[in-house]
Amino acid sequence: MDSRLRELVEKLAVEHTLADDEYFDLIEHRTPEAAELLAERAVAARQPIYGTTVFTRGLIEISNICKNDCIYCGIRRSNRNVKRYRLEPDVIVACAREGYELGFRTIVLQGGEDAYYTDEVLGSIVSRIKEACPDTAVTLSMGERSYESYQRLYDAGADRYLLRHETADPDHYARLHPVEMSWEHRMQCLRDLRSIGYQVGAGFMVGSPFQTTVHLVKEMRFVEFFKPEMCGIGPFIPHHDTPFAHKRAGALELTLYLLSIIRLIHPHVLLPATTALGTIDPRGREKGMLAGANVVMPNLSPVAVRKQYELYDNKICTGEESAQCRGCLGLRMNLIGYDLAVDRGDFR
Ligand code: SAM
Ligand code: FES
Repeated sequence: MDSRLRELVEKLAVEHTLADDEYFDLIEHRTPEAAELLAERAVAARQPIYGTTVFTRGLIEISNICKNDCIYCGIRRSNRNVKRYRLEPDVIVACAREGYELGFRTIVLQGGEDAYYTDEVLGSIVSRIKEACPDTAVTLSMGERSYESYQRLYDAGADRYLLRHETADPDHYARLHPVEMSWEHRMQCLRDLRSIGYQVGAGFMVGSPFQTTVHLVKEMRFVEFFKPEMCGIGPFIPHHDTPFAHKRAGALELTLYLLSIIRLIHPHVLLPATTALGTIDPRGREKGMLAGANVVMPNLSPVAVRKQYELYDNKICTGEESAQCRGCLGLRMNLIGYDLAVDRGDFR
């Protein structure tokens, strides 16, 4: 194996940081041998903190109605071919209860930026879930809101918030979003969430259109500097009804490589093997664990609406019941020597 790559991997494993040019070389000149060594070091870094325990988050996709028009996203407001839905509070609470019975101790509510979910409506759903499901963390992933709104939702009981920054480079952000959306505002939201006391999840797509290695170096720096408690990274996958329909999908191999690097930069991070990773490769989520991930987020949404929450093409698990998904993932993880935990799975 290339001695410089070996040196960089070992340095990262010990120091948890590299210089920009070193990150650049590590990513740009990567080889399968370097990937193997990185994964080995990443798994070793995770071992004393999380071992081979996999935390699960039950994901309820509460609405595909969105006021935004992110160019890559299948549920963007300009997509007239989406059959829009929103789940009523009672349905959401029932899904959460079902998840609780199945062993989930984190419920994630995710959706488009749908004005129906005012602080009152969303806050009351959060408190009802907290009441119905003891010892359960509630994570929100409902996009950009005001400081006051985040505060109210926190006061209602929300524990964590996922808001991917999408890219650490403002110019790149501008190529992925319409002009009315602002990178600075997204970053401000992340800072607000942190200062309120949420465990914060950031993240980005791997292989999004126009992304270069220089951008990826900035991503690594962002992880170093912001140290998100969770970091959601998954491959970009084109959606046929968006302007990026003909762009290439992000690669499995690069996603796994970056998961390993992120684990080494921030050994305590909660790192999901995403559904998008499972979509581009039938064993993507297993491979994610073996590269250093420690979280999976199976779907708890009612099967009737699952196909409508189509952020990208060919999304997996849209026909399976919640119990089937949990069982399937449990089995998949057991086969590689990992176990799903019945645990809130807090940042340690
Ligand atoms: N509205 C909330 C927000 O903006 O954070 C949550 C929903 S949003 C659809 C969830 C995530 O899906 C985005 O942060 C984005 O990274 C990811 N996503 C959207 N379109 C995608 C695509 N075509 N391929 C892969 N991931 C995608
Ligand atoms: Fe959903 Fe396998 S995880 S069917």
